[in-house]
Amino acid sequence: MMNRMITFIGILLAVGGVVFPQERTVRDPLPFNPPVARTEAEKKILAVMDHMMKLNQTYLSVPPQDGEALRLLTEATDAKNVIEIGTSTGYSGLWFCSALQKTGGHLTTFEIDHERASMARGHFQDAGVENLVTLVEGDAHEQVAKLKIRIDVAFIDADKPGYVDYLNKVLPLMRPGGLILAHNVDMVPDYVKAVTANPDLETIFFMQGRGLAVTLRKR
Ligand SMILES: C[S@@+](CC[C@H](N)C(=O)[O-])C[C@H]1O[C@@H](n2cnc3c(N)ncnc32)[C@H](O)[C@@H]1O
Repeated sequence: MMNRMITFIGILLAVGGVVFPQERTVRDPLPFNPPVARTEAEKKILAVMDHMMKLNQTYLSVPPQDGEALRLLTEATDAKNVIEIGTSTGYSGLWFCSALQKTGGHLTTFEIDHERASMARGHFQDAGVENLVTLVEGDAHEQVAKLKIRIDVAFIDADKPGYVDYLNKVLPLMRPGGLILAHNVDMVPDYVKAVTANPDLETIFFMQGRGLAVTLRKR
């Protein structure tokens, strides 16, 4: 009798799960403490980022939580060559620059939209980091394939259906120990599958902001 009741309850729960699947809610980024500038150059970069936020001069940019993660990971890996796919108006690029002025590295960033690329150039200039950045205008699917550099950190933040193609193009260029970062990973299950199924890679998910996959090329 008891066994039958347990089976019955089990069936009810299983059917309930199918008929009334749990609703997914969009999570707000967790609280963020703005970083304190360590140098005058960094102060200038932070001021431009702040200005961009206040004047709505960003477009689909990472929240500061993810920006700070980009900076921390770039600095921690002492990255010399960073590439970014999806510049927009330069907000995440400035986070990279705040690390690169410390590591002595360089950012190559790709943007297909001319107006946003022009705004990004202006922001890099205002922040005094134009020498740290090469902005390549055009379709990143074509442009990334032309790269010949050894990449320490790659950041994928452009067209979502293109994530796996970008991954396949940057992987051979990544140094072992390098990091591939990808934004809004909840929106790209095929990318999550690709990085988690590859035995040469190890991936964690940083969820303080909008979902950043952090993938280590192990070998
Ligand atoms: C989410 S926004 C990037 C935000 C930026 N990383 C930031 O946090 O400030 C995506 C950008 O990718 C660009 N994009 C989309 N498809 C592209 C492609 N095929 N090649 C280059 N850029 C592309 C869009 O024009 C857009 O500006």
